Amino acid sequence: MSDSLDVLAIVGSLRRESYTRRLAQALAHVAPPSLAVEIAGVGDLPLYNEDEESTVAAWAAFRARAKRADAILFATPEYNRTIPGGLKNAIDVGSRPYGQSVWAGKPAAVISTSPGAMGAFGANHQLRQALVFLDMPTMQQPEAYLGGVDHMFDARGQFVEERTRNYCAHFMQSFEQWIRRQLVTADPQVRRA
Ligand code: FNR
Repeated sequence: MSDSLDVLAIVGSLRRESYTRRLAQALAHVAPPSLAVEIAGVGDLPLYNEDEESTVAAWAAFRARAKRADAILFATPEYNRTIPGGLKNAIDVGSRPYGQSVWAGKPAAVISTSPGAMGAFGANHQLRQALVFLDMPTMQQPEAYLGGVDHMFDARGQFVEERTRNYCAHFMQSFEQWIRRQLVTADPQVRRA
């Protein structure tokens, strides 16, 4: 296992000025140096249709990138108490063809955010429901439902409040530990022991 961990942060918003993307970028900044966080959008993925399976290059590229990652960080806003369609589509794309899901066994974490006070709690847990089915070992604690995201960052994209920054740094430190624990458990040598 290499010391540096490749984390793909999948952002569930397509908006140019997305707060969720800003949050993902800020998380990358406060993450431990051994986490290399790359941010992926979901806006270039055509809607999943099994009939088109062998013809869509964007699906193949997305799957290859997700497969390469040591872990996935899902950063989602909330649309009507669930996740935006674009994020659900990306999850569906990665889960197919049947039996070749890129998600199975891949460590994950979920962070949700909203200008509202509930921090997209609904979206966070709706997403977790899919991750159970997809067999992604998903960090349970700390949970992260971040409200008030429209006031969270200054013009340079830095956290306005120290306590939010500290919480996000703690979240990413915990995620690193979670990933390393999952990768050790998945190692067949350790399983045999
Ligand atoms: C929203 N928004 C929203 N917010 C929330 O807390 N709960 C919700 O259920 C919804 N529903 C919803 C539906 C639709 C269609 C839109 C466009 C928006 C508001 C949402 O949190 C806000 O637009 C965020 O700014 C979206 O995240 P990004 O794009 O800034 O990352």
